[in-house]
Amino acid sequence: MASENIIEEKKQGQALVTDKVNGNSKKLFIESYGCQMNLNDSEIVASILAKEGFNTTHLLEEADLVLVNTCSIREKAEQTIRKRLQKYNRVRRINPGMKIGVLGCMAERLKTKFLEEEKMVDLVVGPDAYRDLPNLVREIESGKDAINVILSKEETYGDVTPVRLNSNGVSAFISITRGCDNMCTFCVVPFTRGRERSRDPQSIVKEAQDLWEKGYKEITLLGQNVDSYLWYGGGLKKDFKNASEIAKATATDFSKLLEMVALAVPKMRIRFATSNPQDMSVDVLHSMAKFDNICNYIHLPVQTGSTRMLERMNRQHTREEYMELVDNVKRIIPDCAISQDMITGFCGETEEDHQDTLSLMEYVEYDFGFMFAYSERPGTLAAKKMEDDVPHEIKKRRLSEIINLQQRLSLSKMQQAVGKTVEILIEGDSKKSSEHWMGRNSQNAVAVFPKTDEKIGDLVMVRVDDCTSATLIGTRVA
Ligand code: SAH
Ligand code: F3S
Repeated sequence: MASENIIEEKKQGQALVTDKVNGNSKKLFIESYGCQMNLNDSEIVASILAKEGFNTTHLLEEADLVLVNTCSIREKAEQTIRKRLQKYNRVRRINPGMKIGVLGCMAERLKTKFLEEEKMVDLVVGPDAYRDLPNLVREIESGKDAINVILSKEETYGDVTPVRLNSNGVSAFISITRGCDNMCTFCVVPFTRGRERSRDPQSIVKEAQDLWEKGYKEITLLGQNVDSYLWYGGGLKKDFKNASEIAKATATDFSKLLEMVALAVPKMRIRFATSNPQDMSVDVLHSMAKFDNICNYIHLPVQTGSTRMLERMNRQHTREEYMELVDNVKRIIPDCAISQDMITGFCGETEEDHQDTLSLMEYVEYDFGFMFAYSERPGTLAAKKMEDDVPHEIKKRRLSEIINLQQRLSLSKMQQAVGKTVEILIEGDSKKSSEHWMGRNSQNAVAVFPKTDEKIGDLVMVRVDDCTSATLIGTRVA
């Protein structure tokens, strides 16, 4: 690896680039939309294609191969991708040799439809088929279309070292599980990413250690549902004959995995996402409390504050059980930040259900959140069995009410930090000014402060002088 290293801000749908590999002559333009897992998958794809003679480029016009890693979670996400495909096809008119491929969830959902109906792409590859890319790329180079959307029960890419794309050299993702078995009725992920499977813990620890040696200071362990991580002794679940045999094996659950990683890289900041309330155990909270290097932050999506709606969504817990979990978080890790995902206007949601969401938010006092209007996804249980009956205007009004409440809660959380001194890991320049650094505290709150003699990746103490609902504004004190 040598020569050019372009560092850009991580952003949705931005050309992802990394160090050039000497001797590689073909040019790959790769973009990633959607979740962090997609970004990490794009890093796996770039790693596989680097061995096939591809260097990444940030210039669409010069690309031999254009890949877009796609998201299907809401209709709007898919519309964005369609616009990008149109753009690539316009560029292809001036560069006719260019091949275009679709990766990820939309590839898995639409399969051959992309090749048949759209004629806008040459290659369609689902999230479990990236190892087949060298063959598929050879096929399209010979002028044929190529597709592999086979989902796997085992693939974890455990042995593929991702090349880090657009990295700041400080924070990196490590995937620990793939797929999801939860079947929330609104969600397309179980269909696009397949069955849940856990990655071998040794390969996770090794990846964390390698990142530390390369100078990284923060890792995020990724999965659709990290708390259901489970690795059975020396093998996979399917290798054992019966339940008692499984019980005898020394299983590694998520709390054990967290402790293994925390011990292996004791100075690395460790984060994880996403936690599913039904699977989050008190053991995980104790592991977080025990290790200083595990950040005090939990992303704990709830989707709705109404037990009736939770049931319709097939979330496996009630409002009260969620509140109990939050009580445990606050008792075991008093300064832990909690964030949410919410969906407004799911099938059958009444004004009373909506009020339950608002009151739950007040109860938890979320630090921040990601809020969405329900978008029906083809193939999901909700699409098949329930009516999308909350009018668009009502969804929008409820959404703005929960967003406004969250802003108020976020502001009050940030205000509690004013006057305190917090430890910040520097990630890069502040968006607004190159005279200021931007970083985060353990609770994942963004902080900005004037530069003195620090560098990216330093951990520094910052006194918080002021804040907005999204940013702590401070001064370095040590
Ligand atoms: N467990 C996953 C959830 C992935 S989807 C994780 O790792 O985060 C992320 C969020 O998108 C969900 O928590 C939910 O709030 C939202 N979402 C999923 N399906 C949706 C839909 N059909 N309409 C609107 N929002 C949706
Ligand atoms: Fe989707 Fe529910 Fe899994 S939101 S990713 S089915 S936990």
